[in-house]
Amino acid sequence: MPTPLIPHILITGATGLLGRPLLRACVSRREWRVTGTAFRRIGPGLERLDLSQTDAIPGFLDRLAPDIIIHTAAERRPDVSERDRAGTQRLNVGSTAAIAQWAASRGAFVIYISSDYVFDGAHPPYRPGDATHPLNAYGQSKLDGERAVLRAGCDAAVLRVPLLYGDVERLDESSVTVLADALMKAAPGQRIAMEHWATRYPTHTADVADVLARMTAYRLAHPGFSGIFHWSGDEAMTKYDMARLFAPLVGADPACLVPDPAPPAGAPRPRDAHLDTSDLERLGIGRRTAFAAAIPAILAPHLR
Ligand SMILES: NC(=O)c1ccc[n+]([C@@H]2O[C@H](COP(=O)([O-])OP(=O)(O)OC[C@H]3O[C@@H](n4cnc5c(N)ncnc54)[C@H](OP(=O)(O)O)[C@@H]3O)[C@@H](O)[C@H]2O)c1
Repeated sequence: MPTPLIPHILITGATGLLGRPLLRACVSRREWRVTGTAFRRIGPGLERLDLSQTDAIPGFLDRLAPDIIIHTAAERRPDVSERDRAGTQRLNVGSTAAIAQWAASRGAFVIYISSDYVFDGAHPPYRPGDATHPLNAYGQSKLDGERAVLRAGCDAAVLRVPLLYGDVERLDESSVTVLADALMKAAPGQRIAMEHWATRYPTHTADVADVLARMTAYRLAHPGFSGIFHWSGDEAMTKYDMARLFAPLVGADPACLVPDPAPPAGAPRPRDAHLDTSDLERLGIGRRTAFAAAIPAILAPHLR
């Protein structure tokens, strides 16, 4: 891809938890033309696209002719993916394959967002080249999406990220803020069991958005840039640890929280899929917001 005068960046899933800050981060780069796609939450300035209708994707992309596609749209709830494997494959793998094939035929660059769930969590920290072994249907679909990108032969980067949190439209929009929702709904003095089994590295969506915008800028300046990369926060926490931090902010008593040492019910999860981020850091790309510093502003609009 020769560097375009005004690069056109297309963001799929621009209404999602990650897509919203990503759209803002890219629009703030005045030198880029930026288009976001949405499905159910279509709003001003967004293009409607149903990515499960894979036959329609090439025509849509022909019309917009992006130079770089940042593909964030996905089904990312592991328990939903476990129940609806066909729907998850269609969205997470089928749409990715169609985008990558179009990009390969037009010389466009793809950045595909993947997940730490491609690993089984037994041998952290994970470098990008380490052996993958997803434990659930969601992780498998994200790995299949990565493979679809690589198989299509387009110019591409994959960015794997762990559990995300950030500004939410509703507290149950992220697996982090939903913990605060549970605390607010509990009766005074009620004991609440919180998972204390998996080690997570909650990562702020604004940080990931900044990393993606920098990867895009880096690619525009360095046409050889491609490959698999990791980004992650560096604070190891269980859901119990996060809930203890939320409790005083939502008026709950931390003493009511009971650490639950059992693995969560539902789709199997990795115990510790810590991602090694040194490759991006070596390129000077990376940003981390402290969890305790970010959470009060995220919860504030939802306190009752
Ligand atoms: N959230 C996490 O903790 C996490 C962790 C690791 C990796 N990831 C990865 O990060 C990426 C972004 O996740 P997210 O948390 O931002 O997801 P999200 O909040 O669930 O947003 C999903 C996005 O996909 C769009 N979408 C859903 N079905 C669609 C369809 N049929 N056609 C077109 N668009 C459709 C949604 O559009 P509408 O809302 O307009 O329908 C929305 O913009 C995903 O690839 C996910 O696998 C997320």
